Amino acid sequence: MYGIVNKSIQEMVLHHYGENTWSNIKQNSGVENDFFVSSEPYDDEITYKLAVAIADETQKPVGDILQDLGNWWILKTASVKYGYLLSSGGTSLSEFLMSLPVFHNRVMMLYPKLTPPEFKTTLISEKELHLEYISRRKGLTNFLIGLIGGLSELYNTPVEIVMLSENDAPGTHQVFKITWN
Ligand code: HEM
Repeated sequence: MYGIVNKSIQEMVLHHYGENTWSNIKQNSGVENDFFVSSEPYDDEITYKLAVAIADETQKPVGDILQDLGNWWILKTASVKYGYLLSSGGTSLSEFLMSLPVFHNRVMMLYPKLTPPEFKTTLISEKELHLEYISRRKGLTNFLIGLIGGLSELYNTPVEIVMLSENDAPGTHQVFKITWN
């Protein structure tokens, strides 16, 4: 994944736990990079190793860490560094979610070597949509749930997310029901 993701992880840890904890996490993860360059692609393993090391250090399940990261990504990284991109997604949560299938096309203009997730959306009613998440990667479902949680906070619209189905794909293929008020 692009360095911006690992940088965002580092910033979240520094913010919540400080420099010493970050040093421990870096050391325990076995990741040797001293710093991350936002616009450079890194091996996905680095991101996974950091998430696992944070979970070990903070004694939280790795799923919770991924969810926190998704939240942090929207509210601190994307809102601050890519506000213009985020606002291009719509003026309400439902509008934003409906724009997800094309959202990373715009991100690819910034990061051409991106391996983006694929999304398909079906609007079921004014307060419900189905979101299909297809990825070449595994294990990032909680990251997605955290991202949607961050968007929910951003748009001040509480949501409920329920997984409807999961296919046995080489990566990930899941459908979620998302409802809001
Ligand atoms: C300005 C906002 C955003 C930017 C700049 C951005 C950028 C990125 C980048 C750089 C990656 C790493 C992939 C790679 O390097 O190959 C990524 C992954 C991902 N993004 Fe975004 N993203 C944004 C918003 C969103 C939103 C709103 C969602 C969904 C709610 C989302 C869902 C994901 C997921 C699930 C992944 C993990 C990769 C996977 O599942 O294979 N992103 N994004």
